Amino acid sequence: MVTRLRDGWMFLLGIVLCFAILKVEGVKREDFKACAQSGFCRRNRAIADEAASSSSWTSPFELVSKTLTVKDNAVSGYIKNTKSSSLLTFEVQVLQNGVARIRINENEPIKPRYEQTAEWTLVSNLPAKTEAKIIKKSDNEAVIPMQVPGVESASMVIHAKPLRIDFLVNDTPVLTLNERGLLNLEELRRKDEPKLVDQSDSSESKVETGEWEETFKTWTDPKPNGPESVALDVTFPGFSHVYGIPEHASTFSLKETRGGENAHSDPYRLYNLDVFEYETDNPMALYGSVPFMVAHNPEHSVGLFWMNAAETWIDIVKTTETEGFHLFKHKGKTSTTQTHWISEAGIIDVFVMLGPTPKDVLKQYISLTGAPAMPPAFSIAAHQCRWNYLSSKDVAMVDAGFDEHDIPNDVIWLDIEHTDGKKYFTWDYAKFPDPEKMQNELAAKGRKLVTIIDPHIKRDDGYYIYKEARDANLFIKTPDGNDYDGWCWPGSSSWIDYTNPLAREWWIKKFKFDDYKSSTPALHVWNDMNEPSVFNGPEITAPKEMIHHGGWEHRVLHNVYGQIYHGATAKAVSVREETPKRSFVLSRAFFAGTQRYGAIWTGDNTASWEHLRNSNPMLLSIGLAGIPFNGADVGGFFGNPSTELLLRWYQAGIFQPFFRAHAHIDTKRREPWLFGEPWTTRFRNALVERYKLLPYFYTLFHEAHALGVPVMRPMFFEFPQDERTFALEDQFMVGPALLVKPVVNEGQTVQSIYLPSGPNGSQIWYDYFTQKKVTLPSSGQEIKTTVGIEDIPVYLRGGSIVARRDRQRRSSYGMVYDPFTLIVALDEEGNAEGELYLDDGETFDYEKGAYIHHRFTFKNNRLTTQLLNTEPIAEDYASVMHKVRIERVVILGSKQDNGKLSKVVVHDPKGVTFDAGYKISKSKIVVRDPKLSIVESQWRLELKYQ
Ligand code: GLC
Repeated sequence: MVTRLRDGWMFLLGIVLCFAILKVEGVKREDFKACAQSGFCRRNRAIADEAASSSSWTSPFELVSKTLTVKDNAVSGYIKNTKSSSLLTFEVQVLQNGVARIRINENEPIKPRYEQTAEWTLVSNLPAKTEAKIIKKSDNEAVIPMQVPGVESASMVIHAKPLRIDFLVNDTPVLTLNERGLLNLEELRRKDEPKLVDQSDSSESKVETGEWEETFKTWTDPKPNGPESVALDVTFPGFSHVYGIPEHASTFSLKETRGGENAHSDPYRLYNLDVFEYETDNPMALYGSVPFMVAHNPEHSVGLFWMNAAETWIDIVKTTETEGFHLFKHKGKTSTTQTHWISEAGIIDVFVMLGPTPKDVLKQYISLTGAPAMPPAFSIAAHQCRWNYLSSKDVAMVDAGFDEHDIPNDVIWLDIEHTDGKKYFTWDYAKFPDPEKMQNELAAKGRKLVTIIDPHIKRDDGYYIYKEARDANLFIKTPDGNDYDGWCWPGSSSWIDYTNPLAREWWIKKFKFDDYKSSTPALHVWNDMNEPSVFNGPEITAPKEMIHHGGWEHRVLHNVYGQIYHGATAKAVSVREETPKRSFVLSRAFFAGTQRYGAIWTGDNTASWEHLRNSNPMLLSIGLAGIPFNGADVGGFFGNPSTELLLRWYQAGIFQPFFRAHAHIDTKRREPWLFGEPWTTRFRNALVERYKLLPYFYTLFHEAHALGVPVMRPMFFEFPQDERTFALEDQFMVGPALLVKPVVNEGQTVQSIYLPSGPNGSQIWYDYFTQKKVTLPSSGQEIKTTVGIEDIPVYLRGGSIVARRDRQRRSSYGMVYDPFTLIVALDEEGNAEGELYLDDGETFDYEKGAYIHHRFTFKNNRLTTQLLNTEPIAEDYASVMHKVRIERVVILGSKQDNGKLSKVVVHDPKGVTFDAGYKISKSKIVVRDPKLSIVESQWRLELKYQ
């Protein structure tokens, strides 16, 4: 019996591995549900159809106005379902930073509905609530005033019958809830009880059969709670562009999903899934979910966060006024976006963010879901991965390869094959006889090792992790109380239930150096397969009826499972040393709040031009959803890229936030020196450029940490009034200063680039590499440039200052004390400004003042700086950094009409004045060694003209 079981096991494992390893063309759509195969999606879409097709449709929900009360700075009352006469609770909170929270739940459910998504998602110190006020205008209308910094007036207007909530900014409606009357909350009932009243009269929902049991392929979901979905429509009046709700391999400006030109036919789906060979231009669910959407027009940005971790579908429809958008009249605005949010379970808990700018919306969003973690400095440099580096010899060879070819690199990765039989936290000692020595050798060059740790645990009595978790009862359970047993890389596996606080506590101990054998401080972690991926589960994931801590079904929290796991690992890595350090943990699954823990990547893409092109809109969407540390497998995971594709991918990747070269086990080796010259030089040149810009990237990561603004930015974040930027997805800004339009087509020799003119029409741009001012054609803002194989179209925005470190080293560690070069790109007026943030790159001492934060300003021919530090730089840090200099200042676009430059004078912090050496060619001035320490700010560098 045992042998037969084992044989069956091996056979299945073989099939699974073949499935994973063999090249199968294209995604297997039939493995994943379409809306029509999902009962709750179908039922709610049917309500939308009914509403659209009947002019007499009204929402059955009414606010019972007389029940509205104010208590504890919240407004609450009841909503009545006029069809069933049952009541829902309704609560509004207005936060001080322009955010409103609206919660709708069953008044007396037969058992609690899941409200705990908030625990995993929201920070504990939410912005304070404003003093709640409600102004009743009539029986049918009440107004709640809102405070939105930067906005004259804002309010929330509640219409009682039928329920509709409008948000107004300066008297203009910017967002409406339940405008189409699609609010729905399927009340919990017992199976033997008939449904009291159908929420809709739709024939589709009358014939619904999947309410209590639903079958997909060979799986039957028993649905013990029956139908329990929640849904609501959200209209963005006057907005033709909406963005966000990753993760989808689709356009950045989201498409319509119910008809229209070039539309998707299914809603965008949010359900964390391991989708093998995913396709582009597709609203199918992928590995991560952030139910957050931003709408933008030239006047406003607004945000909507639908805080629900169950499977969710979002329909998008765009209408013009003439097509039927009749509630409000918008001068000059013709388009409105209507969205429909549908989740399988939980409650309605939504946040509305009133901006008014895109950066404000992100700031508001992270005030709820948390600041992006400040990454350790090494992690924003280059990473080299493959499935798999096969032995410590292989690792040593790859490591040496970088040095021999003068190519910088910070991290080497070990995928699942480094373990003993896919038992995480173990080593295959035959191939890696001395992992500590291997890590120490890397560490000696300032490099790190990343190992993979997945959440599926091999069911093997001889495996300590399994035994400990089983004995402490830490696994996800089946409905009958056994440990859930599914298939993943190791074969039969169980999954840790990270929602259990004891599991998280235990997990944190597993990363202590004496527990995780042969791990050292140079080791960081990769969390993969955490959707969770289950090879023999429905849609390759865990069945929804599995049970978590507290008796909750997996259904209610599926989308946040991977985030909780990621959080536990990040904490574990951070506290394994006596003094906590910043961890680096890469995760594949994600949810709102993931930004607090580390980086994510876009999973198993393909080595094709199509996927390279797609990496830009995907990463822009993820960054816009509050997760700035994101990247795509450079080179493409499946298949073998041509050398040209690989190089173009490096050239794009160095300007994306997370750079990791990675490849499937079945692909040819592709370390950047394997293609011979002139390719090696080309790969090196690309990587060296990223390393030079590390100070700029680090400053941007700090800005993301403080304010939520993405590192890789949609064009409209920097040019919010320029409508031509709204749908751009093949070019982007890296911070405020660099505009990048990577070459993403085979054999491409010409690239056209849109260079926005800025609000007053006078934006200057410089070619980042040649440092020459761009001459715009008389026809407008679009330029064409030839692109040789080494060229990356990158433009520097006039008016900015970028700090770089130009000396080439083998890793970022080697650059810690390197001097800085400031590139000062002047605007039309001859001004520029920019920031530099810097700290030790590994500890949390920056929280105690161990950082340097400059704001450089160039004005009236003088370069000065102001330290943005809130207190003096911590003494220890200041003294180590004192010797670090600004070694060069490059000024671009200096005005010829200033006369002849006669000298460059430096007034140093001690009051000493001296002339600095310089070189001038046309409008570029290079000042050499102004002898300024990076910890000083009381200096001035002046250009003197005759
Ligand atoms: C998954 C990951 C991939 C990894 C592989 C083996 O497919 O997405 O990056 O190499 O598993 O661990």
